[in-house]
Amino acid sequence: MQEPAMARIGIVTVSDRASRGEYEDRGGPAIKAYLERVLVSPWEGVTRVVPDEKGILAHELEDLCDQVGCCLVITTGGTGPAVRDITPEATEAVCEKLMPGFGELMRTVSLQAVPTAILSRQTAGIRGGCLIVNLPGQPKAIEECLDAVFPAIPYCVDLIGGPYLRTDEERLVAFRPKKKAP
Ligand code: MTE
Repeated sequence: MQEPAMARIGIVTVSDRASRGEYEDRGGPAIKAYLERVLVSPWEGVTRVVPDEKGILAHELEDLCDQVGCCLVITTGGTGPAVRDITPEATEAVCEKLMPGFGELMRTVSLQAVPTAILSRQTAGIRGGCLIVNLPGQPKAIEECLDAVFPAIPYCVDLIGGPYLRTDEERLVAFRPKKKAP
């Protein structure tokens, strides 16, 4: 069997304070640790820490999708109602297609953990061959949200022409619909 192609995955922390070094970035490392636990096919993480500035984040997302060649970019932070929370706007600005089911499902499962889950405007979308998914900034939200949506991510990446993502099935089962008989 042919070894699957190396997947590049962008991990973007969106935080004014973390980008200035005033606050330790715990979200980015939590996403990386999650991916290390779940993925068994080859992948490499490309990490960025950016301030809550729509233009800067949009530029980073474009770079990760178009130049770096990521098939998946996961952001953390900046999804709330505060004036400087602009992650969903930057995501929507760079995506050709929005994938509202991701935000709907993540909010639904997060509501079982915290009533303030409805304050997150987290979304997802497709830019070229890349799926961008927003997560809230709370490190504990990362596992809650990714456990909910990750089963659909490998098939979504298949559909946009990305590398075959394989998961450790003891940790997380990725769902791929059976191919129809010709
Ligand atoms: N979702 C989960 N699973 N766990 C959380 O602790 N925090 C909520 C919400 N979603 C939270 C969550 C809160 S308090 C806010 S304000 C919003 O996410 C937005 O967070 P952000 O601006 O850090 O992205």
